Amino acid sequence: MSLLVRSLTLEAAGVLSVELVDPAGAELPAWEPGAHLDLKLPGGLSRQYSLCGDPADRRRYRLGILREETGRGGSAYVHDTLRPGHTVEHAGPRNHFRLEPAPSYVFVAGGIGITPILPMLASATAAGAEWTLLYGGRSAASMAFVDELAAYDDRVTLWPQDTHGLLDLDGLLAEPRPDTLVYCCGPEPLLAAVEERTAGWPRGALHLERFSAPVVERDPSAENAAELVLADSGRTLLVPPDRSILDVLDEQGVPVLSDCRDGICGSCEVKVVEGEVDHRDYVLTDPEKEANTCMMVCVSRARSARLVLGL
Ligand code: FES
Repeated sequence: MSLLVRSLTLEAAGVLSVELVDPAGAELPAWEPGAHLDLKLPGGLSRQYSLCGDPADRRRYRLGILREETGRGGSAYVHDTLRPGHTVEHAGPRNHFRLEPAPSYVFVAGGIGITPILPMLASATAAGAEWTLLYGGRSAASMAFVDELAAYDDRVTLWPQDTHGLLDLDGLLAEPRPDTLVYCCGPEPLLAAVEERTAGWPRGALHLERFSAPVVERDPSAENAAELVLADSGRTLLVPPDRSILDVLDEQGVPVLSDCRDGICGSCEVKVVEGEVDHRDYVLTDPEKEANTCMMVCVSRARSARLVLGL
């Protein structure tokens, strides 16, 4: 499906917001805070960007896009080439970072990680929840949407690293709070630090959205082979220890969407009918992993010798 670029706005150094509308002026599919769009960009690139506008405004989507010098070229295309009047293909919205109801929240954003948090703040405010936001960036000039955050007064703490140093996570997260959920989006070192500081918090309190997967060294010789049964067709495939389930499905012509192949985007989610999964993704929550009803086939594997999938 195509969307029309209505406007581009420079929100901070290296950060553009992109306003997208239906080319015929129709209402757009609904979304909730935490959702993202997959933009299909030239060169076969598919990149995910969080929706950071108003979910009640069904006439437009807004994305915040950081120009990433070391990226695969998606953000450079948006910054350098995409212009008002152009169209862009997309998929979604999809949401793997939902705001669960709670009386109180701690939000932590690093850099462009502010984008999924922005609509969460509005939603938490409308629900009457208590919340605070700690928002860090390399410098004040690089921190987008600060004007909008000013409306929330002292619930928001801005923390430019060049003048304030690293975020004070110890002060923020030292004491576990049983009625509080923690939502964090930002670069991997920030997520790792927040994970570490919340290790003593109640299970399920921490919700993360990752831009990239942590580097995990795995020994292929330690992996298991498994029999894969496709419930819809009755086909049986073998997944060798050195291949992912997604690789085998691709090779066998079984259509499954995929994007990141790193367990962070959620596009390759498949229903699990039977068998035990070794979940290795960063999308599903711990309770979702325990429920064992779905899996990300790009990184997760069979723990049991046989796995039946809803394909
Ligand atoms: S392709 Fe992104 S989670 Fe599997």
